[in-house]
Amino acid sequence: MIRHIFWLLPALSISIWAQHETKEGEKAKHPFIGNVAEIEKGRQLFANGCGGCHGPEGGGGRGPNVQDRGVWHPMGDPDMYRLIQKGQGLMPGANLAEDDGWRLVAYVRSLTTPAFEMKAPGDAAAGKAVYAGSGCANCHTIQGAGGKLGPDLSNAGLKLPLPKLRKAILDPDDAIAEGYQGVEIVMRSGERIRGVVKNRTNYTVQVQLGNGTLRLLDMGSVEQMTLRQTTLMPVDYTKRLSKADIDNLVAFLAQQAAGVSK
Ligand code: HEC
Ligand code: HEC
Repeated sequence: MIRHIFWLLPALSISIWAQHETKEGEKAKHPFIGNVAEIEKGRQLFANGCGGCHGPEGGGGRGPNVQDRGVWHPMGDPDMYRLIQKGQGLMPGANLAEDDGWRLVAYVRSLTTPAFEMKAPGDAAAGKAVYAGSGCANCHTIQGAGGKLGPDLSNAGLKLPLPKLRKAILDPDDAIAEGYQGVEIVMRSGERIRGVVKNRTNYTVQVQLGNGTLRLLDMGSVEQMTLRQTTLMPVDYTKRLSKADIDNLVAFLAQQAAGVSK
């Protein structure tokens, strides 16, 4: 009994403190932020009323990209609400009902929120099986297990927001992760080397091979070097996997946050 009370006390004081914080703090969070159903409504509002300028999914057009821009140009939720409703510069005010305004804020915010903090629409346990059955681990490592040709995905849920996680699987050529440009090299000796460029100077190139080994090559002994403009990751997963498979896979990756537990 006593042990249980000790357990409860800190939890209680934390929740009281947290309520206090949201009532008085400037950081009061509108209930639509992070709410999957409201975000989905916001996505539809955005596609209809905002996509003409910002791109249907916020990737940019006449108006700025709101998928990447939020990262280096952070804006608080109340400021974004005001901007959407009242407009600014070349952006007209939307003058929507208050709830719709907040749905839009929640949607735009979700584009830059790490997937781990969102509720992904999919079954992570089923996604784990899709991951195992689709050859992903030939190139990717999670918690130390897997191949090294592609980025380590142990923290994929912290690094990427949901739309980017999905896009990385469906359209991997769109944004090639930094430090993962493929290269094909023919040495003067005739040896052929394929891998990923990790470092490059005028005199040397450092290549990581599929098994993770790094090789430092002297440019003097390189006959021909072709940098790939396309990704090394297979681009046909849309054909190989069903929509449900992909939802589940995304839900599984969204949970990858090494060392953090939900
Ligand atoms: C006529 C084109 C147009 C429409 C329609 C439009 N925007 Fe914009 N939006 C812009 C422009 C241009 C800016 C840059 C404003 C500035 O600071 O001058 C902008 C800025 C923004 C920003 C801030 C981006 C940043 O990081 O600086 C957000 C968020 C935004 N718009 C959301 C929306 C939403 C949500 C809608 C739909 C209700 C919408 N916009 C409709 C053109 C548009
Ligand atoms: C033949 C090797 C290969 C296979 C198989 C492969 N990938 Fe990739 N993947 C890569 C490479 C290389 C990159 C980095 C280049 C890029 O962003 O396209 C990458 C990038 C990614 C990214 C973006 C990571 C980041 O940090 O930006 C995700 C997510 C991802 N892969 C998931 C998967 C999943 C899920 C599967 C299985 C369905 C898979 N990959 C199969 C090679 C592979």
